[in-house]
Formats: sequence, structure tokens, C-alpha cells
Amino acid sequence: MSYAIIGSGHIGGALASQFARKGIDVQIANKRGPASLANLVRDLGPSVKAVSLQEALSANIVFLAVPFSAVRDSVREAKGWGGRIVVDATNAVGVPPGELGGRLSTELVAEAVPGARVVKAFNTMFAAVLAQDPAQSGGHRVVFLSGNDEQANVEVAALVERLGFAPVVLGGVAEGGRLQHFGGALVGLNLIKHPNPGR
Ligand SMILES: NC(=O)c1ccc[n+]([C@@H]2O[C@H](COP(=O)([O-])OP(=O)(O)OC[C@H]3O[C@@H](n4cnc5c(N)ncnc54)[C@H](OP(=O)(O)O)[C@@H]3O)[C@@H](O)[C@H]2O)c1
Repeated sequence: MSYAIIGSGHIGGALASQFARKGIDVQIANKRGPASLANLVRDLGPSVKAVSLQEALSANIVFLAVPFSAVRDSVREAKGWGGRIVVDATNAVGVPPGELGGRLSTELVAEAVPGARVVKAFNTMFAAVLAQDPAQSGGHRVVFLSGNDEQANVEVAALVERLGFAPVVLGGVAEGGRLQHFGGALVGLNLIKHPNPGR
């Protein structure tokens, strides 16, 4: 299984640091190219590899950590998705609601990656929080996720868990996607799941 992160800014960098923390191999790409990532990969260690955008776009699971307005451009070089998974960590920040045509931003992301199975995740907490150790106060920091392909949700939830977070699967886009949409009830929350909450 190969993983790649598109975007090396606040969210992309935080995600990469979590892969590094667990020693899970991940590729990372940005707009400026792999040379611009030399310091980042040096700091994060050998599990994080800087690659071209095109190489990153061929991973089994591709994380989108770019501005919403850059999504289409960032996936332009993809050779076809063939059921691969795209994890949508973007938020349509500052996009006038009219530009979304009354739709959820993740539905528009899905249109940009035809044939991919899109799971929305890692978009509800601030990057500075995402970058911290997910093991907190005796529990694990919660990552919400939603998507219309149940199996893809299961696969991403398993990865979320491997990264040390507590996945909370909210179901399809119509239910969970709405809660995770920028401005939705779950955006900005920083929750910890405890193993034995009743004790
Ligand atoms: N910051 C947060 O706390 C936060 C929280 C939740 C969700 N989000 C969402 O996460 C996404 C990323 O936010 P951020 O704060 O990480 O942004 P950021 O720090 O500005 O980083 C954006 C990254 O996207 C890359 N990029 C831009 N256009 C691209 C293109 N056409 N092709 C490939 N890469 C491209 C940039 O590449 P270069 O480095 O080469 O310029 C940069 O690495 C946004 O959708 C945001 O709404 C952010």
C-alpha cells in the first residue's frame, strides 16, 4: 500500500509528521517540486520522501492538503483513478457559498478526481493540533471521516488508527460530509476518545 500527500504546508506537513512518527512510508509533493522539500524530509526522517506531483498522484491513497481553489490544478496530472482512494482534507475557506452552487465542497473535490473513492478526513482540526502527538490525556485524538464508499471509509479508518488517532466514521457525504463541511458542527473541534469513558 502506498501513501502520498499533495501539499506540504500546514496540513500536509502535519500529516507527514504523523507518518514519520509511526515510521510509515509516505510520499509528499507540492507545487514547487521535490527540491523545495529538502529541509522538510531531512527533518522528518527516512519514511517521508519528496516526489514529483505526478508520482504522488499515482499512490494507492492520495491525501489532498492544498487550498480548495487549487484542487483541480493539483490533480491535473493524474493518469486515472481506477478506484484508488483520495482523502479530502481541504476546506472551502473563503469561497462564497454561491460558488459551491449549494453543494458540499467534498462533492466538488470528487468531481475533480473521477473514478476515485473520496473520503473526507483530517479537515476538522487546526493544523497545529493535527501536528501534535495524537496520544493525549490517556486517550487518542479523534479524526472524523465520511464518504460514500463504505469500504474506503473502513480502509481510511484503519490508517487513521495506525497513525495513532481514534477514527469516527460518520457515514456518507450526505450525513457526515455535511457535519465536516467548513462551517459545519464538527469543524474546529479537538476531541479525545478515551478507551474506557465510563470509568
Ligand atoms: N491550516 C489549517 O489549520 C487547516 C485545517 C483544516 C483544513 N485545512 C485545509 O487544508 C488545506 C491546506 O491548508 P494549509 O493550511 O496546509 O495550506 P498551506 O499551508 O498554504 O499549504 C498549501 C500547500 O498546497 C500546495 N499547493 C498549492 N497549489 C498546488 C497545486 N496546484 N499543486 C500542488 N500543490 C499545490 C502548496 O505548494 P507549495 O508549497 O509549493 O506552494 C502548499 O504546499 C486547505 O484546503 C485548508 O482549508 C487547513
